[in-house]
Amino acid sequence: MNDVVVAGGGLIGMSVAWRCAKKGLRVTVVDADPTQGAGQAAAGMLAPVAEATYGEERLLGLARASLKRYPAFVAELQQATGVDVALRTAGTLQVGFDADDTRVLDDLHAFHLELGLPAERLTPTQARRVEPSLTTRVRGAVRIPSDHSVDARAVRDALTVAARQAGATVLTTGVEALVTADGRATGLRLADGTTIAAGTVVLALGAWSASLPGVPPLPVRPVKGQILRLRRAAGLLDGTVRALVRGRAVYLVPLRDDQLIIGATVEEQGFDRSVTAGGVYELLRDAIEVVPGVTECELTETLVRFRPGTPDNAPLLGDSDLPGLVLATGHYRNGVLLAPVTGEAIAELIADGALPEAARGFGTDRFRERS
Ligand code: GLY
Repeated sequence: MNDVVVAGGGLIGMSVAWRCAKKGLRVTVVDADPTQGAGQAAAGMLAPVAEATYGEERLLGLARASLKRYPAFVAELQQATGVDVALRTAGTLQVGFDADDTRVLDDLHAFHLELGLPAERLTPTQARRVEPSLTTRVRGAVRIPSDHSVDARAVRDALTVAARQAGATVLTTGVEALVTADGRATGLRLADGTTIAAGTVVLALGAWSASLPGVPPLPVRPVKGQILRLRRAAGLLDGTVRALVRGRAVYLVPLRDDQLIIGATVEEQGFDRSVTAGGVYELLRDAIEVVPGVTECELTETLVRFRPGTPDNAPLLGDSDLPGLVLATGHYRNGVLLAPVTGEAIAELIADGALPEAARGFGTDRFRERS
């Protein structure tokens, strides 16, 4: 019998599987098609500071703990698999267009300073020195040198290779239901009619986590994101640019030598898979206002995926209400960033019986505490 079966072979599921297998646990991961997950769309931003929001300080702590792990995580992955995951360390620039955008940047920067986060206010001229392809119409900027990016698809692929190498079995079959017996989770029923039994079931199905039959009620919902990939002209951006364009948020993330990702819509539309004219138009319109050179770039891909949202935007980590079922889901906007800390923490919980300090406080009980 398996020690662990993981439902979901995206970045989170594979990170958990890799770390569990490295601890000597017998692991099987099941996912019919991991490219359907949010990691396929993710721009790969490792941006705890740029994403920091008032009231989400606990999430910020977890995000920073994971960012700290990233260089070693990437080095270990690359060494184990030979896959280059294109970690980009040019930092992030946040820019604003009008007086209201600049006021938001001021507030954000005050929050950064209050928490001692690395961020520096720049004048428009200084911002254009950092990123010469920015429009001259930028009114203000904040530079965050520590917020990086990575090729999310490559990280998922590398994790899959690494998990297999460490001994995990990876099955490309659909997961149909959680199997329970005597009030505990005992395995997964698969689309081919087989059952995988395991001592622990890890739920890492992202936006689909709450819809797997047999899973107790969970506060995870799909948050639709439309995102674009373009061919990037040489010299167009060095690091990530995140902009507020008269109150609308857009980000531009260079990837490898020749790609650019522009994202993303945030829509409460359930599992609506349509790429809309309005979504693509607004992303391109705002991106071109920020970096006019985008006009010349070839549009190569438009896609929709679903972030696993939770009521407080933070993940669900650790034991669930059902014995034997462990949660590794609800990573919302931060799945790529949180993959290292999640993998480590869940493996530690399963192997040693307790979550490490950094990952405590993210159980479902926090929602009960509030009501
Ligand atoms: N992590 C950025 C997004 O979810 O759009």
